[in-house]
Amino acid sequence: MGIKLHKLFIINNLIIIRASVCREKETLPCLRWRGLANDILFTKFPASENPPFMFSRIISRVGLFAVPLLALVLAGCSKAALTVRQSTLDPKGPVAQVQYDVFMDTVWLVLVLFFLVGGLLVYAVIRFRARPGDDTTPIVEEGHGNPLVEIGLITASIGSLVFIAIPTLSAIWYTDDVPVERVPKSKLAAWYAPAAGAPALDKAVAEQVLEIDVIGKQWWFRFEYPQLGLTNDAKHSVPNELVIPKGVAVRINLRSEDVIHSFWIPKIAGKVDLMPGRKNHLWIQADQVGHYYGQCAEFCGDSHAYMLFRCEVLEPAEFAKWVAAQKQDAAPVPAGSKAARGKELFAAKSCVMCHNVGGHFGAGMFGPDLTHVASRKSLAGAWLDNRDLQKQRALEQQTQNTESSVEVDRATLKANLIKWIGSSGTSHDANGKPTKDVKPGNRMHYYKMFNVAGLRETKQEFTAEELDCLAEYLLTLK
Ligand code: CUA
Repeated sequence: MGIKLHKLFIINNLIIIRASVCREKETLPCLRWRGLANDILFTKFPASENPPFMFSRIISRVGLFAVPLLALVLAGCSKAALTVRQSTLDPKGPVAQVQYDVFMDTVWLVLVLFFLVGGLLVYAVIRFRARPGDDTTPIVEEGHGNPLVEIGLITASIGSLVFIAIPTLSAIWYTDDVPVERVPKSKLAAWYAPAAGAPALDKAVAEQVLEIDVIGKQWWFRFEYPQLGLTNDAKHSVPNELVIPKGVAVRINLRSEDVIHSFWIPKIAGKVDLMPGRKNHLWIQADQVGHYYGQCAEFCGDSHAYMLFRCEVLEPAEFAKWVAAQKQDAAPVPAGSKAARGKELFAAKSCVMCHNVGGHFGAGMFGPDLTHVASRKSLAGAWLDNRDLQKQRALEQQTQNTESSVEVDRATLKANLIKWIGSSGTSHDANGKPTKDVKPGNRMHYYKMFNVAGLRETKQEFTAEELDCLAEYLLTLK
């Protein structure tokens, strides 16, 4: 849609350029141009056509079709096309709504200008076209502008800018200002009830809005909830799947550990950069429960395009249950099972150095926390989907809503785990061809470690049987 409109604007501009060439050189060549304009619009191409003129005619004729073409293009803007997973045109929260409103203000203004300028142009081309006998008409004397027209145009330009500036500035203030004062129900005490047996919230914390720290990494996001005890230091961080309560404002603190990333959930809010050494923030709120799709929106290296994340919006009571579940340790693995063998491999193959598994291993701080990996609907920076995609599509069709979601599918998750760990761990497949990483440049197994000699790559190879056992172990981590 965007590209098609872009083309129309190019065509429109070409007509304007041609018209202005004619205006500035009211001399003999221009008479030829005007004669040509007549030919272009109302006659057929002669057999012996001069190629540049022929091109010019084609452009002009296409230009004539601009309006019906635009109507055709706009006919493609169906509701279904606008409600795809990552669409800013389908806002589901107040921040996204404000951003959408600013966009639409601009669109309406631009459309008015487009039809105004285009309309005048079409009128001029038709009204003042060359007619038989024009050659004897004296050429119009050149003028140097009309003060009324010029003042009018300047006023209209300033008016247009003000028309855009007022909603833009108020939207900037609105999105920057976390509404703890304006919306009392956003205070933690107003909606968050800790699970039975859990300690009550600190009094100072109860008066705040929910804060989530987002840490950008190459190429995934880590989420921490310091007020609720879900932090990396406490071994309870949440990778790649942001979980927030419905209808409650949430302050998002944005930090980056390496390069610049950008936080964006198109249907809820965006985008604000995560900058190393700088503190950024935004606030978000989702007004409907569901499974939303986020994306890093700033080029950040090899796998920028694969740096996705998800946002699960829950009812507040469900959110409290989720927080309690995040603090649970992993269940013990039955002795002698494939999973037990997988757990041994997890320690032996150095997975344990980067990944935390609560209750099993506690050394890993660098990579995503895996204590609940099997409960997450996506893997590898939300790039691989752990749901049954056929069932998911069917559900989206049925509900006409991309936020409705089926649960994790065990077989899909297992296949994803094997694909993800396997492709990162082996340099060649069974046929000797180089394997394609799920996420090029990712640090699984290739994590460069400093030793005395300098950089050294630690690289792990897995047999199919080992991969199977590892996957079986990870599947127990719910
Ligand atoms: Cu992170 Cu792009």
